[in-house]
Amino acid sequence: METIVISIGGSVLLSSEANHSFFTNLVDLLTKLSKRYKLYVVVGGGKTAREYISIGRSLRLTEESLDTIGIAITRVNASLLSSLIKDANTDIPTTTDEAKEIDAPIVIMGGTTPGHSTDMVGAELAKKVHAHRFVIATNVDGVYNKDPNKFADAVHLPEISIDELLDTYGTTWTAAGSNVVIDGPALQIMKQTKIPTAVVNGKRLDQLERAITGQSFEGTEITI
Ligand code: UTP
Repeated sequence: METIVISIGGSVLLSSEANHSFFTNLVDLLTKLSKRYKLYVVVGGGKTAREYISIGRSLRLTEESLDTIGIAITRVNASLLSSLIKDANTDIPTTTDEAKEIDAPIVIMGGTTPGHSTDMVGAELAKKVHAHRFVIATNVDGVYNKDPNKFADAVHLPEISIDELLDTYGTTWTAAGSNVVIDGPALQIMKQTKIPTAVVNGKRLDQLERAITGQSFEGTEITI
């Protein structure tokens, strides 16, 4: 059975379009796919994390404290998703090593330590469980030459090399709540592990399924 790690942005789970039927369909999709794949799902913090981080930053909390607050929110989001899935863990692991040891068809977790995003947690977990694929489910249709949520003329890239991403975004973590497409620490691990990685719009469940199952999909393939 192939192993797939999926990193789902909080921006997908907490989007205004994520209504009752979206959650039902997402749960049904993950449950269906878990019969064919061992699934690990890492959940992000989304707008709730960013709101807390922004309040904390205005109160001059340290970056480490802000990251720690962000991590707590990712775990709440992970708990929301895991509570909806019968075949998933109920306790949310706090490290990728702990996640690796969980014997459930679908293992769900959030963040781990300060200094990176949940995409890095997904990349690290993919390395540890020897994943066949790593799927980053975000709130846009893949990687663009600039942020499509801010620039109407952003150009979609069906394919981009890991080196180009590293040249653009570097390898360091900039600040709590950073909203880069894939954070530097995650890119660094992806370059090292060479696990095939797809970036797809997690709100489009048909495309998410295609990316998870290794079919052609509308999104971005990261080439190593
Ligand atoms: P994410 O950045 O992973 O969530 O975590 P997100 O914003 O939902 O992801 P996208 O943008 O939709 O893909 C929220 C914040 O929590 C802290 C960071 O500050 C991050 O910006 N965090 C998260 C950590 O410090 N460590 C972790 O392992 C995870």
